[in-house]
Amino acid sequence: MTGLITPPSGAAHARISGIGAYRPRRVVPNSELVEAIDSSDEWIQERSGIKTRHFAGDGESVIDMSEFATRDALAMAGIEAGEVDAVILATVTHPYQTPAAAPALADRMGMGKPAAFDISAACAGYCHGISLASDMVRGGSARNVAVVGVERLSDFTSRTDRGTAFIFGDGAGAAIVTASDTAGIGPTVWGSEGDKWDVIAQNESWIDVHEQKLDWPTIGMQGQRVFRWAVWSMAPVAQRALEVAGVTVDQLDAFIPHQANVRIIDAMCKQLKMPDHVAVARDIVDSANTSAASVPLATERMLREGAAPRGGLALQIGFGAGLSYAAQVITLP
Ligand SMILES: CC(C)(COP(=O)(O)OP(=O)(O)OC[C@H]1O[C@@H](n2cnc3c(N)ncnc32)[C@H](O)[C@@H]1OP(=O)(O)O)[C@@H](O)C(=O)NCCC(=O)NCCS
Repeated sequence: MTGLITPPSGAAHARISGIGAYRPRRVVPNSELVEAIDSSDEWIQERSGIKTRHFAGDGESVIDMSEFATRDALAMAGIEAGEVDAVILATVTHPYQTPAAAPALADRMGMGKPAAFDISAACAGYCHGISLASDMVRGGSARNVAVVGVERLSDFTSRTDRGTAFIFGDGAGAAIVTASDTAGIGPTVWGSEGDKWDVIAQNESWIDVHEQKLDWPTIGMQGQRVFRWAVWSMAPVAQRALEVAGVTVDQLDAFIPHQANVRIIDAMCKQLKMPDHVAVARDIVDSANTSAASVPLATERMLREGAAPRGGLALQIGFGAGLSYAAQVITLP
C-alpha cells in the first residue's frame, strides 16, 4: 500500500531581515604590493579602481570572520542564535576539504543543531545562498536561515602574479533570511558556463600539488576574458532579474553588483541605463574583490553610511569562477 507524503509547507514569502559585515583590521594599500609585480598605485587604481584591501591576521580563519559578521546580522534581525534553523556558508577559501565550515560556525555561535553546509560558487556564492535560503523558508525546511559569504583570499593569491596580486581581499558578510508577509526576495536568475571553467581557477589540483611536490596553489585568472564576459554577459542577467521581479530600473534604490572591478561596475551601469538616483555599490575601492563576501560587505556599508535606505529596493548580482552567476532583486533590511 502506498502512503501519502505530507507536503512541505512554509512561509508565503521571505525577506532579508538583517545584514552584518566583518573587515579584518589590517589595511593593505597598493603601495605594499606594487614592487613584487612591477606595477604602480596609479595603474592599479586606473585599471581596477582599487586603493586598499583588508588582509586577515595570523590565524584569523574564515570561521572567525564569519562569526563577527553573523553576530551583527542576527542583532539587526532581532533574532537569537538559537532561532537559526539553517546556515549556508559560501566560500572557496576554507582550508579544509572536509568538513564544511558552516557546522563549526553554528556550534561556535550556540545555534544548537541547525542544518549547516557550505556552497562553492565563488563570487556568486552569496547570491546563490540567498536564493536557496528564500526557497527553504518558503518551502518550510527552515524559518530563519543565516547566509554567509566569507573569504580569506590572501592565502590563495600569488604576491608575484601581475593579474591577481592586487585584486583580492579578505572579509565576511552575512544575511539573515526570514519569513515575510510580502515578497522581499525576487526570483533568482542564475546559471553557469562550465565550458569556461579555466578562466578563473586554482592553478593546480591538490592531488598534483601532493604527488608532483608543486608549490602551494593559488587562484589564476585570465583577466581580459573575465572582463569581457562580465561586461557583456552579466548586464543582461541583471536585466532579467529586474524583469522577473516585475521591477523597473527606475524603481531601484540601489545596485549592488559583485565588486570585481570599478570599470566592470561602470560598464554594467551604462548598459542597464542606471538612473542617477540609484546608489551604486563601490566598496571595491577600499575592500578590493572579496569574492563570496563582496555583495554582503557592500550592502552593509551602503546601509551603514546611509547611501541606500532601509526597506529600499536593490538589485544584486554575483558572478565569477565556474563561470557561474546569480542575480535577484531584494528589499534592503
Ligand atoms: C586584471 C585587469 C585589471 C588587467 O587589466 P588589462 O587591461 O586586461 O591588462 P592586460 O593584461 O591586457 O595588460 C595590459 C598592459 O598592462 C600591463 N600590466 C598587466 N598587469 C599589470 C600590473 N599589475 N601592473 C602594471 N602593468 C600591468 C601589461 O604588461 C600590458 O602592457 P603592454 O600593453 O605594454 O603589453 C583586467 O583584465 C581586469 O580587471 N579583469 C577582470 C578582473 C576581475 O574582475 N576579476 C574578478 C572576476 S570575479
